[in-house]
Amino acid sequence: MTVKVALVGAGSVGQRHVRTLKHLGVRITSVTDTHPAAAEQVARELDVRAFTDPENALDLTDADAVYVCVPPFAHGSGERAALSRNLPLFVEKPVGLGRETAEEIGVLVEAAGVITGTGYHWRCADTMEHARDLLAEAPALLANGYWLDKRPPVPWWGRVDRSGGQVVEQLTHVLDAARFLLGDVVEVYAAGIRRAAETGTQTAGRASRETDDVDDATAATLRFASGAVATMAATSVLATKHRAALHTVSRGLYLEVSEAGLSSFIGTSRTDLESAEDPRVTVDREFIEAVLGERETTRTPYAEALSSHRLGCAITESARLGLPVKLPQGRSAAYGA
Ligand SMILES: NC(=O)c1ccc[n+]([C@@H]2O[C@H](COP(=O)([O-])OP(=O)(O)OC[C@H]3O[C@@H](n4cnc5c(N)ncnc54)[C@H](O)[C@@H]3O)[C@@H](O)[C@H]2O)c1
Repeated sequence: MTVKVALVGAGSVGQRHVRTLKHLGVRITSVTDTHPAAAEQVARELDVRAFTDPENALDLTDADAVYVCVPPFAHGSGERAALSRNLPLFVEKPVGLGRETAEEIGVLVEAAGVITGTGYHWRCADTMEHARDLLAEAPALLANGYWLDKRPPVPWWGRVDRSGGQVVEQLTHVLDAARFLLGDVVEVYAAGIRRAAETGTQTAGRASRETDDVDDATAATLRFASGAVATMAATSVLATKHRAALHTVSRGLYLEVSEAGLSSFIGTSRTDLESAEDPRVTVDREFIEAVLGERETTRTPYAEALSSHRLGCAITESARLGLPVKLPQGRSAAYGA
């Protein structure tokens, strides 16, 4: 059976998924984007219809699943259109700007009981599974996470009310990796700095825009339910990506985890491993296999993405308030949504 996918959001990551899905034998049956020219360009290349509203796309064309690849501020309509039709749903990270829409979609996902996948592809690297096995033998006491990068070129990125800020938008991959490897976080305390660059200066290799209001840098401490502690550092003022990684410390064991692979230092010996498959491909393959019934679920379900998003939002809130923020656990985790 050929899986038919409706694409919502025809920007750079939407187009990346299209390339991977075509390679996996999937047929894209419609392209929706609020920017008509963006939808039409991708639709023309695929010889399918373009839409500006996902409800129309799903009413007028056939789909077995929906990919929502929109910026943080734009989540909601694509997910609702898919879930009201009980269609499997893939959502790019982060799953929202703040918590409100993401929590609402989380409830709808649970009620619909459909297969979900999300863009937290680090989880799909086989090296992550290997890291988890090593940490099962020697539990982590400390972790240090990093997203030290340039400002992404997309126009919406520099605005808190569009992207949610760097922690919600980028560090979220590292936060998700930390949850995957160390478990849930119970408390965070964070601080941020924004120092206005002179208009138009190339401080970050890309012109800083007058309207930008995201912090230039964030530092956070985290305490996990296991008792482990972590620091997280994020900045977007560099000329190029310097590091996006999670390092962990256990007795006699040091791990350096990234989307590309794993370096492990056991005692005094070092081993470097690369993931056998690009996890950005694996995340799509797993979702399509789950839609086909070839596997029960994905490693990136919406509920896990929502938990990682809650953590990013808590760090952002702590930096804004200048106070520690506790994360409710278990069924009360949605409290305060
Ligand atoms: N997992 C990953 O590796 C990865 C990589 C890059 C981007 N992303 C994520 O994907 C998301 C999109 O990033 P991008 O780089 O593709 O952005 P982009 O700006 O290139 O594309 C976003 C597209 O969505 C469209 N859009 C906006 N609102 C919409 C709506 N309500 N309905 C339909 N379309 C809408 C825009 O017109 C644009 O064409 C971001 O949240 C980003 O964090 C994930």
